Amino acid sequence: MPLRTITTTPFDDQRPGTSGLRKKVATFRQPHYLENFVQSIFDAIGNVHGQTLVLGGDGRYYNETAIQTILRMAAANGFGRVLVGRGGILSTPAASCVIRRHQAFGGIVLSASHNPGGPDGDFGIKYNIGNGGPAPEALTEAIHARSRVIDRYRTVEATDVPLDRLGRSQLTDMVVEVIDPVADYAELMTSLFDFDAIGQLFKDGFRMRFDAMHAVTGPYAVELLERRLGAPAGTVINGRALPDFGGGHPDPNLTYAKALVEELFGPDAPDFGAASDGDGDRNMILGQRFFVTPSDSLAVLAANATLAPGYADGLKGIARSMPTSRAADRVAEVLGIEAHETPTGWKFFGNLLDAGRATLCGEESFGTSSDHVREKDGLWAVLFWLNLLAATGKSVEQLVREHWARFGRDYYTRHDYEEVDGAAASALIEALRTRLDMLPGQRFAGLTVSAADDFAYTDPIDGSVSKGQGLRLLFTGGERLVLRLSGTGTAGATLRLYMERYEPDSSRQGLDAQEALADLIRACDELTDLKRKLGRDAPSVIT
Ligand code: G1P
Ligand code: ZN
Repeated sequence: MPLRTITTTPFDDQRPGTSGLRKKVATFRQPHYLENFVQSIFDAIGNVHGQTLVLGGDGRYYNETAIQTILRMAAANGFGRVLVGRGGILSTPAASCVIRRHQAFGGIVLSASHNPGGPDGDFGIKYNIGNGGPAPEALTEAIHARSRVIDRYRTVEATDVPLDRLGRSQLTDMVVEVIDPVADYAELMTSLFDFDAIGQLFKDGFRMRFDAMHAVTGPYAVELLERRLGAPAGTVINGRALPDFGGGHPDPNLTYAKALVEELFGPDAPDFGAASDGDGDRNMILGQRFFVTPSDSLAVLAANATLAPGYADGLKGIARSMPTSRAADRVAEVLGIEAHETPTGWKFFGNLLDAGRATLCGEESFGTSSDHVREKDGLWAVLFWLNLLAATGKSVEQLVREHWARFGRDYYTRHDYEEVDGAAASALIEALRTRLDMLPGQRFAGLTVSAADDFAYTDPIDGSVSKGQGLRLLFTGGERLVLRLSGTGTAGATLRLYMERYEPDSSRQGLDAQEALADLIRACDELTDLKRKLGRDAPSVIT
């Protein structure tokens, strides 16, 4: 099998975003496009000779082709071994778990997360380091810098490696080991949660629905929920992973997981509902006729963490992304542990978790996890909730309402304006940024700004500074408004508005969030004039 060095020229659009490089499949299909990025990763991460790489993806269209390309390039670049999930499958949290358990040098995960798949959909690639987490900013910068000057990549001429059966094969000097994509992950889950108690819950007739959205968590959920916990067959719906996710948008939120939401709000609603996204790192939690915001979910898990065996000794700290509501901070304060506020994107949690400064972390964007891996983890959150329900005998709604009564409620909503004109959205943010200093004291729709800034973060472990992470406005009534542009979209720009208000009085915690935040929503309209500037009269997604 001859080694080959292929001459190439750089593409100018290979800057990785919040979670790797995400583009349309058509972009990835251009000759040398994937190869340039993969070689840039290999060049940037240092000496890979004899090292172990983990490889897998969410099974979306182009996954298998990309896996074979990467295997050939890994062999040519001198890796000693690649652990690849059977069929090229690994959910993002499972990849993180496998990297850690097998002490791999790092891993490549192929996914565009919750973005639609298929020939006209999106594809993505990201590199995770040896701790199992996303590449830190310095490394993504180095990968990007390399991609701008790349002039050759290495590969071998070889036929495709069979990936449908477990076992080892050889690709030049490199061993390809096809592993069960679920096994390591399932073992980790059984070590963290009380499977006997949850199993008993199902035996007693507890009803649950898990929507895998035709994405990667299907096989994981069937194994954990139906096989190991004994939930009745059919508990997992849309469990067959499809390359185009059945034409759906595999994002577990109120808009895209509509059928599940309707069932949980319907007349014959099960006790518990949950969903995960394309690559298995996000989660949505629903009770009977009850939606749990991801920010509340993080806070409730934190407040009750010691009920789960894996967290029985308590938490070291809680970390949340800046736009996530401050509910988790209130729990940290009561528990007397550290609370951290990081920029959007999972990579900012890595150092805190590695240093033992945080145990749980979460983002408002349906991401929750802990130090068991270095990614967010959809099924982990679902199992954690099941563990709490089993241990307390309470319903989801009861747990959340009791939480609010104790800690106060942070009313919360996020409004997304998707696929808006990029220049208009940037101009809107820039205009506001230049006004920040002048805002305190000004009134919008009856609310007075008390402070405003452009969020910057200094990592407490390595001292690195990340600027421009979102505009934050506080109001005198305790309301908070955050505005930022998405870093993960592939078409146009997405403006995200995050709004919240604290309500300590339990007799006033029963409002609908949109109602409770109506003044703030109006204040935001007035402040930004966004409807006119973006030419939209309503958000595309309200969460
Ligand atoms: C979005 C979420 C963010 C998450 C990221 C990857 O990024 O908002 O919290 O880490 O997806 O799942 P955004 O599009 O806002 O940049
Ligand atoms: Zn995802």
